[in-house]
Amino acid sequence: MDTDWKFHLGSANDPTKDFNYGIANLFAKTGKITKSAVDENFNDSDWTKIQLPHDWAVSLPITFNNNEDILAHGYRPVGGLYPENSIGWYRKSFDVNTADSGKQFSLQFDGIFRDSKVWVNGIYLGGDFSGYLGQNYRIADFLHFNKPNEIVVRVDATQFEGWFYEGAGINRHVWLEETNNLAINLDKYFTYNKTENNLSKINVEISIKNLNTTAQTGQIITELKSRDGKILTSTSNDFKVEDNNGTIVKQELSIQDAHLWDIDNPYLYRLHSYIFVNGTTIDETTTKIGIRNIEITPDKGLLLNGKSVKVKGTNDHQEHAGVGSALPDALQYYRVTLLKQMGSNALRTSHAAVAPELLEACDSLGMLVLDEQRLLNSGLEYNQQFKRLIERDRNHPSVFLWSIGNEENAIQTNSTGKRIAQTLIADQKKWDPTRTSTYAADLANVFDGVNQIIPVRGFNYRVDAVIPYHNDHPSQPTIGTEMGSTVMTRGEYKMDTAHAYVLDQDSIHPWWASTAEHWWKTVADKQWMTGGFIWTGFDYRGEPTPFEWPNVNSHFGVMDLCGFPKNIYYYYKSWWSDEPVLHIGQKWNYTGQEGKPVNVWVYSNASVVELYLNNKSLGKKSMPKNGHLEWNVPYKPGTLKAVATINGKKIEDKIVTSGPTEDLSFTLSKKILNADGQDVIAINIEAKDKNGNVVLDAKDPLKFALEGDGTLVGFGNGNPSDHAPEVGINNQGSRNLFNGYAQVIIKSGKTKENLKLKITLNNKTFVQEIEQK
Ligand code: GAL
Repeated sequence: MDTDWKFHLGSANDPTKDFNYGIANLFAKTGKITKSAVDENFNDSDWTKIQLPHDWAVSLPITFNNNEDILAHGYRPVGGLYPENSIGWYRKSFDVNTADSGKQFSLQFDGIFRDSKVWVNGIYLGGDFSGYLGQNYRIADFLHFNKPNEIVVRVDATQFEGWFYEGAGINRHVWLEETNNLAINLDKYFTYNKTENNLSKINVEISIKNLNTTAQTGQIITELKSRDGKILTSTSNDFKVEDNNGTIVKQELSIQDAHLWDIDNPYLYRLHSYIFVNGTTIDETTTKIGIRNIEITPDKGLLLNGKSVKVKGTNDHQEHAGVGSALPDALQYYRVTLLKQMGSNALRTSHAAVAPELLEACDSLGMLVLDEQRLLNSGLEYNQQFKRLIERDRNHPSVFLWSIGNEENAIQTNSTGKRIAQTLIADQKKWDPTRTSTYAADLANVFDGVNQIIPVRGFNYRVDAVIPYHNDHPSQPTIGTEMGSTVMTRGEYKMDTAHAYVLDQDSIHPWWASTAEHWWKTVADKQWMTGGFIWTGFDYRGEPTPFEWPNVNSHFGVMDLCGFPKNIYYYYKSWWSDEPVLHIGQKWNYTGQEGKPVNVWVYSNASVVELYLNNKSLGKKSMPKNGHLEWNVPYKPGTLKAVATINGKKIEDKIVTSGPTEDLSFTLSKKILNADGQDVIAINIEAKDKNGNVVLDAKDPLKFALEGDGTLVGFGNGNPSDHAPEVGINNQGSRNLFNGYAQVIIKSGKTKENLKLKITLNNKTFVQEIEQK
């Protein structure tokens, strides 16, 4: 249900600009809705046509405001101080078949930011306080079968839920679900497995609901299928459900010598369950599952299929250049792939429920997930949110641990925090007995409160307290829920307070945090330490640190907002991946500074590196384990080259004094765009001089125009102080290169015809064709 929506801003302080919300008495009588946008006959012809996922905040102009929540949200004019930008109305009409009038229907919203209210044909369905979890509404009673149906959603983004950019609007998918009156209750479908002595037992708990007026009997059958669809084993149970009632059927299947799911080989089986009545399939569902054992131990950390796996993770918020929080599925896969290429094997969903497609990407690409609850709170609203999170995500093999909360400074060390944690830990065991939980505490060697009872002690920073804490509490497993937090601007090599840039080196961090090298050296060889999650994998909007305006994005990422690597990426890749790495973390354009020393950092997993300036050796240096090398090189234009030998193979990296940008090269995130109107491609642009050298400090302006059946969604460059618009209008836009790079995000159309992206640099136009099939 992502296509053909209409959108209009309302108002949080003027009901007449909010389609009479607050004046029209909408909740007094069922369906008696007049004089408001809720009315199914309301004329929305002048509303903007949009497609989901949609984030209206990313189109708002970046605006200076010293309010701490506004700046933390990236200076977007949304929230209580901007009532005119904080309410969004959505409408969509859809048809259902008259032949289906006896069926059950529901609307599934995967996530709306936030505090949404939903009506169908003027009938109020309910609301969702959470900006992250999504909600499912039964609608069969209200449907028209002879004329179009009207969905209306009012979204209120006045309040924030976090302290980082969160977007605004229906920023995830919406589905219309249609079933028979006898159906599998998908929300409650639960599967888990255990393997012992090469025999895997797969348990399935299937909840069947019967909305018929008579009792129903039949069989529930579950088949285990291989990745290519072959049935490997199956089981069948008879069931009986009374009218307007439900039942749970528990089944067990087993196979010998299964392909176990792990990070390098994330093999997914298919579990196909169906209800069979009198020779007919009444309802069915297929779930991708991974067969694997997980355990978190105090002495060996995480055991995945019995083997100790060090967690090399990142924290990430849900957003990207050019799209805001409305992340297309293809970008979820792109971002997980970039993290995997760095050698990362885990992701923490800081600090709320993520889009289901991100978990699917992690299942299928082999990325472990620490799945986090929004708030440490056992009150009704958040307790229900925790339940929905667990029931939604517990079938994903990638999820290895739950987090009950993050840095709740007001309660984490007192008895209230401890009692809330006790309730949540007990509930977690009830809703998912197969896993355990942690809590992200920004506490040093402190045991009071939540830490006393949490099964896995989480550390946000305070890395020097990890060893003393472990010595005091050796039987409690430990994990670094937030580690590092170095601030870096990609491609910048001097502190620039005017632009609010920091060095692209692993050197500056807030007082509570540490460099990458410090935390990784501290935990790398401690087998008892489960590992940790870097703050963060990618830059994100908001939390400008250490400077504020004009800086509007965080600098914490190992990659920038587009996913372009900073130098620290190569530090992690050197010590986290098995691939040979050699990288010079500098640029070589310092005209006018001849003879002055330039601080050159080199990252590699080679044991010895030799550096050359214009083919003259500057000496060999031995690489310390989990470290980096530095040279101070008097500047002279030319070529700076690093050479090393890894596994008998010589490799080199070089940076060159370049001329101005005269050429562009393009790298596409995928080869072919699916002509489904949903697929997305990232086109990465690199600046070159006339000799083909990368221009590492290029900041030239570019103009974009897309031709063909597709959408120029947005663009970015990773510059954390760039305030230019980042969404395309009428398939056109512009953006400066930032230190050599820019990115364009394009969404497919439905025509199987190639697209043409025209990029103009000065007076020269480059054309990049995109294959669309
Ligand atoms: C932590 C917090 C994160 C982020 C980070 C910045 O305290 O959990 O969300 O704010 O600090 O260093």
